[in-house]
Amino acid sequence: MSGIIRNGFLLPGIPLFALVLAAACSGNPLPEAGSADERLYRAKCTTCHSWPHPQRHTAEEWDHYLKVMEGHMEKKNIAFTESEKETIRNYLHRNAR
Ligand code: HEC
Repeated sequence: MSGIIRNGFLLPGIPLFALVLAAACSGNPLPEAGSADERLYRAKCTTCHSWPHPQRHTAEEWDHYLKVMEGHMEKKNIAFTESEKETIRNYLHRNAR
């Protein structure tokens, strides 16, 4: 047997659809991008899932979700101060559907 070693380029099987999905999600930037409020929103609301776009819900719905998320954060011992809550609430209300 001749010793020719064939080095196949074994690419890891990247599921392409996952990349396409990720691209689709990041194609919709957050309002007020780069502002302090937007950065706080991203910092606080992406610990457990990616940020939901503010346009996804009405102001009333955001109030409901913020209460639910507050509970989730409490259970996980994630700090969420009154002023952070107020800032994120105002940010979501300004940009709600
Ligand atoms: C401690 C983890 C955690 C953090 C931090 C968190 N969430 Fe959630 N979020 C969840 C879980 C778990 C769900 C799944 C639904 C449920 O059980 O309430 C969820 C679901 C949601 C949903 C409903 C589904 C949807 O996409 O419409 C919204 C809206 C939401 N979160 C918004 C927020 C916002 C805004 C923040 C920041 C203030 C936030 N979350 C921070 C855990 C978290």
